[in-house]
Amino acid sequence: MIITTSKQAKGNKVQRAQYLADKWEVPFVIRKKASMKALLREWNQPVYVVENDTEKIYHPDEEHPFYFHPSMAWLRAKRLLNNERDTFVEAAGLQEGMSVLDCTMGLASDSIIASFSAGEKGKVTALEGNRYMAEAVTWGLKEWKSGNESFDEACQRINVVVSDHVTFLQKQQSDSFDIVYFDPMFHETIDASTHLHPLKKLAWYNDLTAEAVEEGKRVAKERVVLKDEVHSPRFHLHGFTPRKRKSSKIAFGTIEKKEGNT
Ligand SMILES: C[S@@+](CC[C@H](N)C(=O)[O-])C[C@H]1O[C@@H](n2cnc3c(N)ncnc32)[C@H](O)[C@@H]1O
Repeated sequence: MIITTSKQAKGNKVQRAQYLADKWEVPFVIRKKASMKALLREWNQPVYVVENDTEKIYHPDEEHPFYFHPSMAWLRAKRLLNNERDTFVEAAGLQEGMSVLDCTMGLASDSIIASFSAGEKGKVTALEGNRYMAEAVTWGLKEWKSGNESFDEACQRINVVVSDHVTFLQKQQSDSFDIVYFDPMFHETIDASTHLHPLKKLAWYNDLTAEAVEEGKRVAKERVVLKDEVHSPRFHLHGFTPRKRKSSKIAFGTIEKKEGNT
């Protein structure tokens, strides 16, 4: 990884890029007039770019950069405002005031929807293993403006933590989050997730482990939720009950903590 700015970067952005380079102990490259293609060719490694209005990660093997764009989450939030259904909200049984631990943040769409549904009294902690992705998404969650106050506040309330989820879960007290959520990378490529393409080169592909699920069960007060391909062996392997949906390639499964929860 190297850090640079856009060609038209303002002074405080140069400082921000320098700060990130120091924090991650990676080279800070003064951009001057270099094109992104030239930088990628010269360094042959990912480039974190501090721009004036966003932060992006370019990868030498990926055409499009990774950056925070809450378009999917915003569409889903608008549907919720229209009293339409959201399969994640339904599967997780999300309600106002709940606490949610998202163990696989990615672009944070599900974290945003969790925060939006749980409201001001709720709490969402989002874990991401790739520190560069976590930084770009954290920046977006704090700075991106949709024009809808409750949506922007939901983004800003999310607490992002850079951590492997097993390590984090092990440090939590039992029953300390209502919901523990896993959305690991799929085994097979699903066309519907094309908006996640730039994430694919950067994301952690660790498989969901039995230890993670066991820890998730200990830490969750209400339920553990898994999102995966509809025919994924992970549901059966880890004891999740999948909720079938007509003509969807993706399913949610749950492990209930309390008897009587269905
Ligand atoms: C499919 S994406 C999640 C997408 C997310 N639900 C969303 O709405 O944008 C999975 C993410 O989990 C991260 N990840 C995978 N294994 C992890 C682990 N053990 N600890 C923390 N993050 C992990 C990957 O780097 C990737 O960003």
